[in-house]
Amino acid sequence: MIKDILSILDLTREDMDRLIERAIELKKNQKAGTSMKKPLEGKTLGLLFDKHSTRTRLSFEAAMVQLGGVPVYISSATTQIARNEPVRDTARVISRYLDALAIRTYSQELLEQYGAHADIPVINALTDLYHPCQVLSDLMTIVENKGSYDGLTVAWLGDGNNMAHSWINAASVAGFKLMLACPEPYFPDKAVLDKAVNMTSSDITLLTDPVKAVTGADVINTDVWASMGKDDELEERKKVFAPYQVNADLLNHADENAIVLHCLPAHRDEEITDEVLEGFRSVVWEQAENKMHMHKAILEALMGR
Ligand code: CP
Ligand code: NVA
Repeated sequence: MIKDILSILDLTREDMDRLIERAIELKKNQKAGTSMKKPLEGKTLGLLFDKHSTRTRLSFEAAMVQLGGVPVYISSATTQIARNEPVRDTARVISRYLDALAIRTYSQELLEQYGAHADIPVINALTDLYHPCQVLSDLMTIVENKGSYDGLTVAWLGDGNNMAHSWINAASVAGFKLMLACPEPYFPDKAVLDKAVNMTSSDITLLTDPVKAVTGADVINTDVWASMGKDDELEERKKVFAPYQVNADLLNHADENAIVLHCLPAHRDEEITDEVLEGFRSVVWEQAENKMHMHKAILEALMGR
């Protein structure tokens, strides 16, 4: 296993499958009340968060506690980071106290600087560019519901954002079919897409037509129309993104056994209707729970060595 998870591209398909398999096993053990081992006893995970979070923060904290370790939440605003201490200094100092660091911030470059200067594993807990741990737990949810992601068609509707980028990365590493439908001004980053499309196993199509993207799809995926940091663009975005709403009409074009994913938080009746979010195809609550099981598998793999 590699030192850091800064993006899905740090992983091979074998790494991804191993993490999914282990997360499913850890979940099973927890439900059966047989997870007695504390493999991370005496270890500390730092959570350096510059953006809001409910699920990612709490699921990493719970994961760490369940594995016998201790999570420490670090707000940049109250540390010397806010007073411009260089990353290479902060990263080296933090490495002497902690055993791993999960970071949620704006810039992927900043995250990569932490990865380069820290001696401990650095985990991407969301940047403007990627959200890899989310997509790993989403793939776990797909495997639980469908048995495998092999041969499936995953559709992405809406913004070409950090989640879309991590889905593009995952499709290029794992080889499932990905159909993205986004309004042209909000297409995914060209460099992210070009790199993925050039990878041999990739089957990725970018469209503007939401109906074409979901036709026959096994998994329908969406996310907020305005990500953190883009909130002031929401009213303008609502007009452009309206045709991409995941609603009952659109789902009529999907496979009859299609499941619906949303990483949450959801804006009901914007990117997804309340009816679909609460409906029989929705696996979003299971998906949210799976973040904790996947984070346990990730922490065990990176810190348990
Ligand atoms: N899905 C997700 O990352 O949620 P939070 O922003 O609440 O962490
Ligand atoms: N794309 C969203 C994901 C939130 C978990 C955002 O970055 O705000």
